Amino acid sequence: MEKQVKRIGVLTSGGDAPGMNAALRAVTRTAVNQGIGCVGIRRGWNGLINSDFIPMGSSSVSHIINKGGTLLYTARSMDFMEPAGRAKALDTCRLLGLDGIVAIGGDGTFRGALALSRQAAETGMSLRVVGIPATIDNDIGCSHYTIGFDSACNTCIECIDKLRDTMQSHERCSVVEVMGRHAGYLALYVGIAVGATAVLIPEREVDFERDIVEKIRRARLANTTHYMVVVAEGAGSAIDIGRRIHEELGIDPRVTVLGHIQRGGSPTARDRETASRMGYRAVMALLEGKDNCIIATQNGKIVDIEMEEALQMKKPFQMERYQILESLTNSKGPDI
Ligand code: F6P
Repeated sequence: MEKQVKRIGVLTSGGDAPGMNAALRAVTRTAVNQGIGCVGIRRGWNGLINSDFIPMGSSSVSHIINKGGTLLYTARSMDFMEPAGRAKALDTCRLLGLDGIVAIGGDGTFRGALALSRQAAETGMSLRVVGIPATIDNDIGCSHYTIGFDSACNTCIECIDKLRDTMQSHERCSVVEVMGRHAGYLALYVGIAVGATAVLIPEREVDFERDIVEKIRRARLANTTHYMVVVAEGAGSAIDIGRRIHEELGIDPRVTVLGHIQRGGSPTARDRETASRMGYRAVMALLEGKDNCIIATQNGKIVDIEMEEALQMKKPFQMERYQILESLTNSKGPDI
């Protein structure tokens, strides 16, 4: 049965990701085209607490599909984690007459959304929430893909390709740290794509001898004169890894922490397209009367999964990809 929706709020929360703007555009335009109002909540959940919002119309999201960052700003809100903060947020929802909220972000964003919806229900108010996964970490259990991941991978690849040029000229070893928080997806995909000598990810316990020393030795035996080591931030610090490489192999590596450059830049085709499909689906889910849910990709399809169930889902470790990485980084010696 369809539940009536007159006005929705949309926000971005947590670390930004390229493609968030494309998602904002899709949510806003779909709402407008379906005849419902759309309000942009600024600075994540803090915007609901502080009544910091802007009206959203078709033209307010013009020419943003190609822009990195987020038009609505983003933040991680400590106050929203407390019932008192959420009570203030609910006052803003009542003031604005919101029936639903589309929250674009990661796991913490969705947990906050669910807590808000539950607290609303306790006071007899109906506020349904829909999550759109957007994080360069690709670490949302229910969704094969999160908006921003492909753009971040491409930015890392571009930077590492440049590093390789100078490492090759000087016959050096480069140790590059990429983001990912507790997940190694970025390092894994980037490691495969740049042809890294070694890759460290948090999903696999690091054995320095096996994962670094042995790989560099083998590369040396195969006549390689420069080495590229990619470290996921969750697997250790590139500075420490560089120091150990120096101690144990007697080579003098150069360390680069790519940092927040990975989160910026124009979104790739994949991120713009996925964000557009997810944004559309999020509004349609609200209009169709779906309960709180997260929009996800499953085998290339856009689906909606009930939020509580979605938040319990775990992504299996991508063993096949890891094996491919291992097989491609393990040089056995000179050509035969
Ligand atoms: O979750 C996205 C992310 O970029 C992580 O990869 C990283 O650990 C973290 O955010 C950095 O957060 P901040 O922008 O607060 O430094």
